Amino acid sequence: MSSLQEKVVLVTGGTSGIGEGCTELFARDGAKVVTMSIQAKEGEALAKRLTTEGHTCLFHYGDVSKEADVKAAVDLAVSRFGRLDGVHANAGLMRNQKITDLTLEDFYAMVNVNLLGPVLVAKYAIPVMERQGKGVLVMTTSVAADIGFPCHGIYCATKAGLVALIRSLTTDHSPKGVRFVGVSPGTIDTPMLAASCAGWSKPKEEIYADVARRIPVQRLGKPADIAHAVRFLMSDEAGFINGSIVNLEGGTLCLPPW
Ligand SMILES: NC(=O)c1ccc[n+]([C@@H]2O[C@H](COP(=O)([O-])OP(=O)(O)OC[C@H]3O[C@@H](n4cnc5c(N)ncnc54)[C@H](O)[C@@H]3O)[C@@H](O)[C@H]2O)c1
Repeated sequence: MSSLQEKVVLVTGGTSGIGEGCTELFARDGAKVVTMSIQAKEGEALAKRLTTEGHTCLFHYGDVSKEADVKAAVDLAVSRFGRLDGVHANAGLMRNQKITDLTLEDFYAMVNVNLLGPVLVAKYAIPVMERQGKGVLVMTTSVAADIGFPCHGIYCATKAGLVALIRSLTTDHSPKGVRFVGVSPGTIDTPMLAASCAGWSKPKEEIYADVARRIPVQRLGKPADIAHAVRFLMSDEAGFINGSIVNLEGGTLCLPPW
C-alpha cells in the first residue's frame, strides 16, 4: 500500500467533504498535514481530533482567493515541517444559474475560489517544490469539466480551466521535479452535494437514490474514494503519473448519451 509517511501535505478546502476525508486519511497515514479553509470552528475541531489520535495536523484559517492567505499556508507548512511534498488544491464553490441570470458576484465568487485559488497555490508551492527537486500538486477538478451540466456554465468552465492549467504547469515545471495531477470526482456525498439539492421538489434521500441508480457502480462516491486515490497520486509509487486527469466517478463518464 502506498504511504505518505513523514510527507508534508497541504490540503485546501480541507475541513468539509472531500477535503476533510483527505485531511483525515493523509494524517492517519503518517503525513504532517496543514489543512486550510474558511471554516474556523470545523478546522480547529478537525485538527484537535487528529492530534488527539496521535497524528500531526495544523489548521490554517485562510481564503484561497487571497494571495497573502495562500502564501501564509505554504509558509506555515515549510516553517513548521521544513518542506512541502504535496498539495491538494481542493477548495471549491458551486453556484447554479443560467448565464442569462448570472450576476458578476456569482461569476467572480466561483472564478476566485475554483480557479484563482489553485493558481495561487501553484504560485507559492512550486518554488518550494522546485528547490527540493520534488513535489506533487493535485487539483480537484470535476466531471463538470467534461459534461454540459445544466445551469452550471461558470462552475463547469472553472473546472475545465483547471484541466488546461494542469497541462501547462506540467510542461513548465515537471522538468524540475514537480508533478501535477487532476482528480475529477463524479457525484460525491458531501455538504456541497447536499446543498445542491435545496429547492428540488423531492427530498435529498430520494434524489440521491435516483442518481445512484444511474451510476454504473450503483452508488454515490464517498470522500474516502477520492482521498485514497489522491494518497496514491501523491505517493512515490505514482511517480510516472503526470499531467493526467484521473476520473473518480464510478463509471459515470462511460454512460451512453440516451
Ligand atoms: N461533491 C461533489 O459531488 C463534487 C464533484 C466534483 C467536484 N467536486 C469538487 O470537490 C471539491 C470539494 O468539494 P466538496 O463536495 O467536498 O465541498 P464542501 O462544500 O463540502 O467543501 C468545500 C471546502 O472548500 C472550502 N472553501 C470554500 N471556499 C473557500 C475559500 N475561499 N478559501 C478556502 N477554502 C474554501 C470550504 O470551507 C470547505 O472546506 C470542490 O472543488 C468541488 O468543486 C465536488
